[in-house]
Amino acid sequence: MSRKPILAGNWKMNLDYKAGMSLVQDLGSALVDKDHDPSRAEAVVIPPFTGIRTVQVLVEGDKLPIAWGAQDISAHDDGAYTGEVSGEMLKALNCSYVVVGHSERREYHNETDEVVNAKAKKVIEYGMTPIVCCGEPLEVRKAGKHVEHTVAQITADLAGIDAADVAKLVIAYEPIWAIGTGETATADDAQEVCGALRKAVGDLYDGPTAEAVRIQYGGSVKPGNVVEIMGKPDVDGALVGGASLKAGDFASIVTFYQK
Ligand code: PGA
Repeated sequence: MSRKPILAGNWKMNLDYKAGMSLVQDLGSALVDKDHDPSRAEAVVIPPFTGIRTVQVLVEGDKLPIAWGAQDISAHDDGAYTGEVSGEMLKALNCSYVVVGHSERREYHNETDEVVNAKAKKVIEYGMTPIVCCGEPLEVRKAGKHVEHTVAQITADLAGIDAADVAKLVIAYEPIWAIGTGETATADDAQEVCGALRKAVGDLYDGPTAEAVRIQYGGSVKPGNVVEIMGKPDVDGALVGGASLKAGDFASIVTFYQK
């Protein structure tokens, strides 16, 4: 079973819709210049909500080999939830992916595994693919409990989701101490946890589900380290913050397979 690599750029709270438009145009050209073969790796951009419509129009209009998604979703369907954006709204923008449980949401918005689980289920209910994030803080890593910690997160985040849906979703392992810090986990660190997460999916579900689920590493991924990280057997992609804001850098990350 071969898993198609997925390289996703999480823009976080950067780029207004005009800046996002330029970035996607530049990214489209950079991918053409690099002869990107979309059958080898999937490129995804994840703008703030205000940029999604522009990205959609541009990508669909120019038929760019780029998918798009959202950084969050409401756990509710509709109604009096000021500030929230529903699955139906995201589906109407043809989003393919929705990030749930990013460590910044967990930390600054008190999202528990229960909330992350409810959001992951909403993404699936509306026909999109969740990118379910997990990862340990520095103290947990120092205590050597990172595998236990991330496996417990994913076990709770996937509760009640059936095997067929788990096989199609994406898990992102992002050690918090490596996010936006320039501090990258080594490729072996990434493999250790991604391998353990795949094993956990096998234990929770079955072998074919574990073989099918795609697991990304995230945390200071750049053109200079992506090839080594992607060389690990259980790493199927990257969730990229800072380096996804530069078209050339992100295009190099997406085309890692050429190296
Ligand atoms: P970074 O962010 O690449 O800037 O470290 C990764 C992420 O938070 O998804």
